[in-house]
Amino acid sequence: MTKNEFLRGLAKGWFGNSQQHSIHAQLLKARGLNRLAAKIMAESDEEWEEAKKVNARLIELGETPVVELQEYPVITDIKEMLEYDCKDASEALPMMSKALSMFDDDFVTRRMIENFIIDEQDHLNWVKGHLCLIQQIGMENYIIEMLGE
Ligand SMILES: [Fe+2]
Ligand SMILES: [Fe+2]
Repeated sequence: MTKNEFLRGLAKGWFGNSQQHSIHAQLLKARGLNRLAAKIMAESDEEWEEAKKVNARLIELGETPVVELQEYPVITDIKEMLEYDCKDASEALPMMSKALSMFDDDFVTRRMIENFIIDEQDHLNWVKGHLCLIQQIGMENYIIEMLGE
């Protein structure tokens, strides 16, 4: 895989994942789970920005980005949704870490990917914490916690 192929795949993944999060957030909001919806929508916005950063970097590297979006499932069950995020982030992290070595001669891109890794690690920690919370207080209480205003 070339560096640009990796970056194109990253943009495709972020755009798709961002849309998945935004649909999940809208579904949660429709059920009144405003607090959880806001958190998931923020993740969607963050990944949309990340995808755009990748495309901007591709342009700086002399490449024209393409319109591409990786397909992601829409999951209505809250616990399954969080478990999916947990699995997805757990897989994305080593994939991005491994790719860092490709950018030893390109500090700007390397720094960008490092920031993605830090953000994704944050998200993974948040998801793990919430799965833990569900285990401790039960789904019914968790839903009450996530209603918000
Ligand atoms: Fe995500
Ligand atoms: Fe993320």
